[in-house]
Amino acid sequence: MNNKTSFMIIGVASLALVGACPAHAEVNAAQAQALMKANKCGRCHAPDKTKSGPSLKKIALEYKDDADAESKIITQMTTGPTVKLKDGSEEEHTIIKEKNPDKLKNLAQWILSH
Ligand code: HEC
Repeated sequence: MNNKTSFMIIGVASLALVGACPAHAEVNAAQAQALMKANKCGRCHAPDKTKSGPSLKKIALEYKDDADAESKIITQMTTGPTVKLKDGSEEEHTIIKEKNPDKLKNLAQWILSH
């Protein structure tokens, strides 16, 4: 590894550390919950119980070490990929009725905070 590469790695790592804590502190839980409610996400996702869809805890765990978690979750919420429900049937995932990127980010971070 040359010096430039290691410098970059250290830079990215410390950015991530600095970024992680304030980002979490800023999560607006009330706004996220309101968005979940308005889009009936709770029909399939509960905080810690598996319903038709995985619990929020399970989703957070799955993405624990994924640096792209936020954008992947936003894609899941905005593009309606085909998902398999717990009973084995398939349907298109709910597309969230929200376009504001800050609100979508907040919801993704709130889900990840479980
Ligand atoms: C009809 C049931 C249903 C509804 C309503 C629903 N989901 Fe899902 N959701 C699922 C299922 C099933 C999966 C699992 C996908 C998989 O693992 O293949 C999933 C996966 C997800 C994931 C990603 C999990 C992963 O492992 O990648 C997120 C995030 C998510 N849902 C958020 C939401 C949000 C936010 C809403 C409301 C806008 C919502 N869901 C509404 C059934 C639902």
